[in-house]
Amino acid sequence: MVEMPPPPSCSFASDNAAGAHPAVMEALVAANTGHALAYGSDPWTAQVEDRFRELFGPRSRTLLAWNGTGANVLALASMIRPADCVVASQWAHIVVDETGAPERILGAKLVGLPSTDGKLVPEQLHELEHQIGVMHHAQPGVLSITQSTELGTVYTADEVASLCDEAHRLGMTVHLDGARIANATAALGGTVEALRSFTVDAGVDVISFGGTKAGLAFGEAVVYLNEALADRAVYIRKQVTQLPSKMRFVAAQFDALLRDDLWIHLAERSNSLATRLHAATATIPGLHYDAAPEVNSVFPVLPPSWVAPLQSWCFFWPWDPARGQVRWMTAWDTTEDDIDRFAAGVEVVAHYN
Ligand SMILES: Cc1ncc(COP(=O)(O)O)c(C=O)c1O
Repeated sequence: MVEMPPPPSCSFASDNAAGAHPAVMEALVAANTGHALAYGSDPWTAQVEDRFRELFGPRSRTLLAWNGTGANVLALASMIRPADCVVASQWAHIVVDETGAPERILGAKLVGLPSTDGKLVPEQLHELEHQIGVMHHAQPGVLSITQSTELGTVYTADEVASLCDEAHRLGMTVHLDGARIANATAALGGTVEALRSFTVDAGVDVISFGGTKAGLAFGEAVVYLNEALADRAVYIRKQVTQLPSKMRFVAAQFDALLRDDLWIHLAERSNSLATRLHAATATIPGLHYDAAPEVNSVFPVLPPSWVAPLQSWCFFWPWDPARGQVRWMTAWDTTEDDIDRFAAGVEVVAHYN
């Protein structure tokens, strides 16, 4: 048997398996000087609030938070009204991967609508209209979409705009879970205009803006584009335990990530490496892809006998074991060499299993 090549320097488990970008770590260390007032009354937070206003406009308001689940809970808690439910796709992180945190903290029902590609369409909201005004139904109050989605797909700006239009017509507000908003921005053109096209211009009300998967050690931001919803959010953040006391350390990291569009450049890189991984493995006999990658993940279907030997050589997570589908995800620090080595390892396993 041919030996496996040396494993890649990274895993393909997730973008949150990567460390923090060196510029982010430098900013974190540089912020560690002297005293600064807590809870966001520090110069780093003021500076990063300016950076978010540059991205999303002067009327946007940004609250920094600890983590993605907490950012989503804060966003939704500041949007929901009594007796509302939150509508999302069946794959949404808030529906399947937050241990019921939104339900527990919001005290509200989450409705996961069917989707084959992680995206929703306006007709699915239209079908909920009959529930509105009926006292026996939780009232569809908030639409939450994920960009890029949990299945590695990307809504176009027009798709987001038509969902926002329909949601607003029904009296709902729209949350965008942007744990991977950097990858979506890179996929849609890699400019601030691209970012605005599917957020501010499309009519999104509140964004969870991901930092951790984009290159921070920790930290996320909740960006309010709908000013009315921002007013009470500052109190809600503390209630849902997402108010960092030494906020300068979250702010300094974001400042480094947003400077000179580093967040977009890193996402462009991880997206392009997923494309390289797809190209390098798509022709291996026995391996099948439903679709080419749009962002930084690929979802190949493999014979079950390949999975354990590959995982023990270079780790990744299963996705749909019943189908033999796994997920390989690139991160900001994945290299071309990592991709080439990984593809070579898949070829060896394919040959001998
Ligand atoms: C789409 C999406 N939203 C939110 C989160 C939550 O992030 P955290 O693990 O920081 O709570 C994740 C993490 O995997 C995610 O993939």
